[in-house]
Amino acid sequence: MKNFVQSDLLQSLPKQFFASLVEKVGRVIAQGHDVINLGQGNPDQPTPAHIVEALQKAAANPRYHKYSPFRGYHFLKEAVATFYEREYNVKLDPEKEVAILFGGKAGLVEISQCLVNPGDVVLVPDPGYPDYWSGIALARAKMEMMPLREENNFLPDYNELSPEAIEQAKLMFLNYPNNPTGAVATKQFFAETVSFAAKNDICVVHDFAYGAIGFDGKKPLSFLQIDGAKEVGIEIYTFSKTYNMAGWRVGFAVGNESVIEALNLLQDHLYVSIFGAIQEAAAHALLAPQDCVNELVQLYESRRNVFIRALKDIGWDVTAPAGSFFAWLPVPNGFTSETFSDLLLEKAHVVVAPGIGFGEYGEGYVRAGLLTSEERLQEAANRIAKLNLFHAKV
Ligand SMILES: Cc1ncc(COP(=O)(O)O)c(C=O)c1O
Repeated sequence: MKNFVQSDLLQSLPKQFFASLVEKVGRVIAQGHDVINLGQGNPDQPTPAHIVEALQKAAANPRYHKYSPFRGYHFLKEAVATFYEREYNVKLDPEKEVAILFGGKAGLVEISQCLVNPGDVVLVPDPGYPDYWSGIALARAKMEMMPLREENNFLPDYNELSPEAIEQAKLMFLNYPNNPTGAVATKQFFAETVSFAAKNDICVVHDFAYGAIGFDGKKPLSFLQIDGAKEVGIEIYTFSKTYNMAGWRVGFAVGNESVIEALNLLQDHLYVSIFGAIQEAAAHALLAPQDCVNELVQLYESRRNVFIRALKDIGWDVTAPAGSFFAWLPVPNGFTSETFSDLLLEKAHVVVAPGIGFGEYGEGYVRAGLLTSEERLQEAANRIAKLNLFHAKV
């Protein structure tokens, strides 16, 4: 069979760092070990029943068996506007300031192709979610990393960027609550971001994937709550985490009208919109009582408390995340994030994601997901304790 050569563009895409981790984990499971996998970001709870029922009912409606409107049903965009006004007191024009997406990832990858030309610079948080890199590579643009340092609460410091990078930058990605660090943004930081972006003509894309997941009674801020934010950017939201709908592939972008138009235009060329029944169920998710969301946040918070307490009890000096469903844990002396992750996998059968997979500034940390029961999280800590890497305080 003839082996067709991949295009230069395809070959230039960043390598999937976590593919090798998945392979290593598979090997340990195949040996018959009971592996506790905290390495992934796949929500473990089912979609709330009322949303599934809305889909089941809508799936039988012949209206949805035809092509959906290209840019999505108006009722979903209306529901998004109602949701943003109710949750964040942000007013949106449903037709001009909302774009329906096949999940957050689609919008995050598409946006670079919408706004940047080959050779332009895109500012990217480091550590950060690797899908930003893919879109930038597809647009043949250049990445400029913005270090997220613990001493700065994992917020970028715009004063650290070179004048050349700022001059060439067209786009910037931010993500709070943050994957992988679990940090949240402050109003002051977002306000600084609006001024910086306005001054330097940079479009801000705030990835609000973990928007619903803030702990200790603190609701994470939407970027659009900041004065002037709509002038300089958009926010990307997904149903994957808020409503445990990762498999459904539905999300949306909201904010700056010209950017929303660019996303819609690119999508006109790429797809017809999502199955109408999914859109109806998604609208239902946004408009129905939000008890399921509150319960989910409580579940994650309780798991966080158990896990962080258990790690502190074994002598590991860790900080509790303020949001998201990840804990960002410092690697003990003498290890890299990769050698430490390998050790946990081989000797404790616990999987964590090495920080280096999220960028250079992720080195020195591993990411653990709170996506399993409290018992399993406690068991993971017990197994790690047996490695005698830490000294429990008495
Ligand atoms: C930071 C961040 N952004 C975006 C996404 C994309 O989510 P989805 O494509 O399921 O909407 C994820 C998923 O893991 C994520 O962690």
